[in-house]
Amino acid sequence: MYTSKITGLGHYVPENVVTNDDLSKLMDTNDAWIQERTGIKERRHIKKGDGNSTSIMGVKAATIALERAGLGTDAIDMIIFATLSPDMYFPGGGVEVQEMMGMRTIPALDVRNQCSGFVYAISVADQFIKTGMYKHILVIGSENHSGGLDFSDRGRSVSVIFGDGAGAAVISRNESGKGGILSTHLHSEGKHKDELSLQGPSTEYWVPQIIAENPQEDIPYYPYMNGQFVFKHAIVRFAEVIQEGLDANNLKVSDIDLLIPHQANLRISQFIQQKMKLRDEQVFNNIQKYGNTTAASIPIALTEAWEEGKIKEGDLVVLAAFGSGFTWGSAIIRW
Ligand code: ACO
Repeated sequence: MYTSKITGLGHYVPENVVTNDDLSKLMDTNDAWIQERTGIKERRHIKKGDGNSTSIMGVKAATIALERAGLGTDAIDMIIFATLSPDMYFPGGGVEVQEMMGMRTIPALDVRNQCSGFVYAISVADQFIKTGMYKHILVIGSENHSGGLDFSDRGRSVSVIFGDGAGAAVISRNESGKGGILSTHLHSEGKHKDELSLQGPSTEYWVPQIIAENPQEDIPYYPYMNGQFVFKHAIVRFAEVIQEGLDANNLKVSDIDLLIPHQANLRISQFIQQKMKLRDEQVFNNIQKYGNTTAASIPIALTEAWEEGKIKEGDLVVLAAFGSGFTWGSAIIRW
């Protein structure tokens, strides 16, 4: 059986910076509240007319990842695209990437696991590489949140958290046989699906029905989040799934060189760091600049950490995610 490794990383965020003060002009919020509760100082939003969309940002991130992997588009055997904010209801972003990048008629798989989307996607890529079926897989996480948030007072507890952007990784057969993706661990618990969700448009809620049947203050085409409930579950599941990954590989918390948690909320990352007794240099956070970019947050953070020289060959890198579903997962990687 083969093993897989990450051979190229890239990220893209829109140029338009939206500060907490900018949001306070749209809704009843303020910089102090947002920073204290979430750690976020600013995020990026697509600007009308700037030419970006979920798939286009994904292509921009993927182009950089491919270049760094030293591969042309013809070398890619499969696309896996994770998002909760696709350009279209269907088809998904994977086929758009296939077309825009002029790729062969390779499979394009869409992953819908929200904040855990990237970890789910690399786990799937890892399995296809392990069996020997494919050699190079392009994995993308991309989100256009700003296109679907409620920027009135009603949506403030959700809308201040999320930002737009994309990250991509090329997962390749590990020719050296040393290190690579050691294991991945995925979970779900659908009984909490309503606690962080967007119900329509869907087969349950088409737009005219949503408008006709729902009180204006409770419209299910804006995301709903039971923040404290999500927070409480996130801190438990993050720690559990990181430990599960370490145990599976006979590793200890002290072996971790860099933990890249999904950038949900800085307070969640800090809580996990404290709980697991990790030192500051063992945890990477960049939510302060980008907000929560859901499926894009881990590949954006991973790319930045790598660009900043925080990941060296032989390092033990742990990715961990938790989000809507609830779903959660981890990946244990020897770089
Ligand atoms: N600005 C100012 N005040 C606000 C805002 C805002 N943007 N949003 C809510 N408030 C007010 C509320 O109305 C409430 O006022 P009240 O006391 O008069 O009723 C007060 O602030 C406290 O609200 P809470 O919702 O109790 O605030 P909390 O401390 O729980 O913080 C938050 C909210 C930041 C959402 C927090 O619960 C949290 O981070 N939860 C985790 C959720 C998360 O991280 N989700 C993303 C991860 S999952 C994923 O990525 C899909």
